[in-house]
Amino acid sequence: MEDLQRSILDCRKCDLYKTRNIPIFGEGNRYAPIFIIGEAPGRDEDLQGRPFIGKSGQLLDKILAACNFTRTDHVFISNIVRCRPPENRVPTPREAEICMPYLLKQIELVNPKILVLLGATALKYMAGANHRITKERGNWLDINGRLTMPVYHPAALLRDPSLKRDTWEDFKKIFFKYRELVNPDHQSPHIIVE
Ligand code: URA
Ligand code: URA
Repeated sequence: MEDLQRSILDCRKCDLYKTRNIPIFGEGNRYAPIFIIGEAPGRDEDLQGRPFIGKSGQLLDKILAACNFTRTDHVFISNIVRCRPPENRVPTPREAEICMPYLLKQIELVNPKILVLLGATALKYMAGANHRITKERGNWLDINGRLTMPVYHPAALLRDPSLKRDTWEDFKKIFFKYRELVNPDHQSPHIIVE
């Protein structure tokens, strides 16, 4: 993991290195049972070197907290690309393809039980361009033998708060799968278990 982190810090494989401040490796429990994949770092992330710390990240943390999940114990958080695209544009297919091996290596090292894909970009590059987040969110997929839940990106929830209701249902599925596969005693004050 440390070797991978070092190679990311001086990566110049695509042009994003020219405009980035710092590549964002990812963070969380190095052996997390849940691996969360976003799109790309934004401004706040690029300045501080941590994933999902801006407005989207704060909303993500609230959703995780409602499931009683923390970054230190339950999840590892990464992105399709490690460097901020200028003006927060969507990463190009070339940028995504060049950066994907880092992500796939990270997933292999963490070896999570559950993958969570945040939004259209994560779904596209993890599952294929024929997949649609609006159709497939909330439904378990098998990606290379890993149980995978696509959900809306928190930025989509900020733009359209009516999507929050569906997203909460999706995260409850993740919560129950975590109980089933990892810790049957896991509880949250926000979710009723029988
Ligand atoms: N949005 C993302 O997709 N990833 C981040 O790290 C921050 C915002
Ligand atoms: N569009 C996106 O890009 N992401 C979502 O999560 C939903 C709609």
